[in-house]
Amino acid sequence: MIRTPLRIGFIGTGRISDLHAAGYLGNPAARITALCDTNVERARSRARAWGLDDAMVTDDPAALLSRNDVDLVEILLPHHLHCPVALAAINAGKIVSLQKPMCLTLEEADRLVEAAEAHDRPVRVFENILFDQPVMVADTLVREGAIGRPLAIRMKSNPGKGQGAWEVPSEATAWRQNRDLSGGGPLIFDDGHHKFSLAWHYMGEPEEVHAFIGRTLHRDGSLLDAPSIVSMRFDEQRIGSFEVVYSPDLEIETRQYPQDDRIEITGSSGVIWINRGHGSIGNQPSVQCFRNGELDSSHEACSQWEESFIRATRHFLDCLQEGRAPALTARNARSVLRFALAAEESARIGRAVRYTDV
Ligand SMILES: NC(=O)c1ccc[n+]([C@@H]2O[C@H](COP(=O)([O-])OP(=O)(O)OC[C@H]3O[C@@H](n4cnc5c(N)ncnc54)[C@H](O)[C@@H]3O)[C@@H](O)[C@H]2O)c1
Repeated sequence: MIRTPLRIGFIGTGRISDLHAAGYLGNPAARITALCDTNVERARSRARAWGLDDAMVTDDPAALLSRNDVDLVEILLPHHLHCPVALAAINAGKIVSLQKPMCLTLEEADRLVEAAEAHDRPVRVFENILFDQPVMVADTLVREGAIGRPLAIRMKSNPGKGQGAWEVPSEATAWRQNRDLSGGGPLIFDDGHHKFSLAWHYMGEPEEVHAFIGRTLHRDGSLLDAPSIVSMRFDEQRIGSFEVVYSPDLEIETRQYPQDDRIEITGSSGVIWINRGHGSIGNQPSVQCFRNGELDSSHEACSQWEESFIRATRHFLDCLQEGRAPALTARNARSVLRFALAAEESARIGRAVRYTDV
């Protein structure tokens, strides 16, 4: 039986933590009781901003994990810490919500899957894109058979610049530049997780992956893994592609990251276009569907990207109450991680790789 309100501890109170807090604050099913960050002043300022006068604040993850007033841990750390801290949280008997990507390698993923499946409390890898409203609208259309059988998925990430973008601390960019800490490039391995989650969601695991991964200097001086293109071949003649291009002078409307995201799902009798992700360019409807010889673009009222975090958090709380498996389980997240590892390996050796050989 899951306790209500569930007591939440955050490990990592960096850039993305605000959007995680939004799913708990004011939610009677949960209460944030502890915050941890090696930058303890940052954790303190989050506690103040979130109105958490009685939250315990520490710079030591072990101190947070040892507390009896923490039932669920949100792990929001640089990627190299995901595996060790999630394992420590599992060993401490906590329910675990681990930000994507679950870890750096398949060996780490195997350790996490094994620990998660042996644990008597749920472990999920946080993937908000599955709870972004345009994707949920598309999901309903696919489930209702609006486009017949999905045959192809085409995805594009297009970072640019944005006057409304939030500030990203230089440290959050710095660890992403170090592959020992990040596991891979910021657009294919890190942000690409969202696109590979969608490919996995609609098409399953691929048989083969072929990638070209380029390098471009971002206006802030960091290196981006763009321009890049990843091709995926699935069974039964189905395909997918993921394209990344950096447009330094493209103005993108956003409240967070200045990136346009586009997804096209082609089915046997129709096509769905998702025209919005992190940000947007132009005033196209968020989702359009061509079926029965007509363009249906009645999906203009989709909520903003940040709300995908709130829905993803509430989804996990609902799953805990109802005893359901969450999206993504550790095993699902291992499959998603493998797409990125396959893409990076293919780009490294310059030819296609079999997904199961990675
Ligand atoms: N779902 C999404 O769309 C999305 C968007 C951005 C980030 N993320 C993910 O969220 C996670 C965090 O990313 P971020 O952008 O917030 O990074 P960040 O660098 O802003 O935050 C990381 C925080 O962890 C703290 N930290 C580092 N080592 C620590 C340790 N040993 N113990 C305690 N605290 C420690 C840092 O001081 C920092 O405050 C990553 O997994 C990233 O991929 C997801």
